[in-house]
Amino acid sequence: TAVKANPLIELHREAVNFYHRVLLSTKAGERGMQYAEKRKLDQDTLEHFQIGYAPKQDNLLLTYLRGKKFDDDLLAKSGLFVQSKDGRLFDRFRDRLMFPLANENGQVIGFSGRRISDDKTEAKYMNSPETEIFTKSKVLFHFAEAKKAAREEGHLVLYEGYMDVISAYKAGVKSGIASMGTSLTDQQVYMLRRVTSEIIINYDGDDPGVHAEERAARMFEKAGGFKLGIVVLPEKLDPDEYVKKFGAEKYQKEIQGALSPIDFFLQRIAKKFNLNNDREKVTFLDEAVKEIARVSNPVEQDLYLEKLAREQNVSKDSLKANLLRERRRQN
Ligand code: UTP
Ligand code: MN
Ligand code: MN
Ligand code: MN
Ligand code: MN
Repeated sequence: TAVKANPLIELHREAVNFYHRVLLSTKAGERGMQYAEKRKLDQDTLEHFQIGYAPKQDNLLLTYLRGKKFDDDLLAKSGLFVQSKDGRLFDRFRDRLMFPLANENGQVIGFSGRRISDDKTEAKYMNSPETEIFTKSKVLFHFAEAKKAAREEGHLVLYEGYMDVISAYKAGVKSGIASMGTSLTDQQVYMLRRVTSEIIINYDGDDPGVHAEERAARMFEKAGGFKLGIVVLPEKLDPDEYVKKFGAEKYQKEIQGALSPIDFFLQRIAKKFNLNNDREKVTFLDEAVKEIARVSNPVEQDLYLEKLAREQNVSKDSLKANLLRERRRQN
């Protein structure tokens, strides 16, 4: 006998279909479609990601789901409605482009809705609240699909945002997932570890994005067992903007050229100093050696020392002496 599906998951399946059909084939969805076109979302992409539109009008989802015989108790538990004090239900998402959020098995358990209007007093993205089936800290956007693609591409690529995953997908990088913001969680790291040992981090190229890459890289290092690559996009662009500006091929080159964590951290450290000034350069080299001391593989460590010595025109022996001192301190 078949296991009875969770009714909240069935409800979400209906909601996905509803929002998607509203977007693709209704008058009420024209506003959503205009926005989708502005964001260069084509038909295939809308299909693959099951993107939809929550209409501006009141309570169309409510009416639809009641018509499908879902009872109000379940509707209230779904997170897709807000409840007034006297218990009445109202559609939570209105006038938003809807991105379904799925669990590891590809079952939709919640939504994130992108604001379409220019009203900046409203949150850009609104998410489902926590429910029996939706825990935001355990969701990775596009994870179920990306897992399959990872078998071919050999890695998963971690993004901040939905649109980044989507544009990367169109540009041929199909193993994209999003942490849905810059605060990657431990749970997400554990989910990833079960699936791949190779992660490329490609957060936005702005300051918060690059800072969050530092933080994420430290989290993966701490969890252990990952081979990391880190992409820092130019001009503070996010991946979606980059693909639109420079095209798919150039974007793929950025992914192929991902930095090793050590190169990433050394570049970050170097940015803080004026290397033409000797005193600053000494401080830079101290910090750089500290970073290299964290590397556990001695061959790798030697390689980085060699490179740093060459690039900064100092002797490897002096760096090595510093490194040994640093290692004693770290132990
Ligand atoms: P960004 O601010 O970089 O947005 O947030 P974005 O993805 O580039 O969005 P677009 O291109 O303007 O549409 C990165 C991610 O952080 C989460 C979303 O998952 C978003 O994709 N976020 C952001 C929220 O959950 N709520 C917000 O209000 C903003
Ligand atoms: Mn961002
Ligand atoms: Mn920093
Ligand atoms: Mn962004
Ligand atoms: Mn963006």
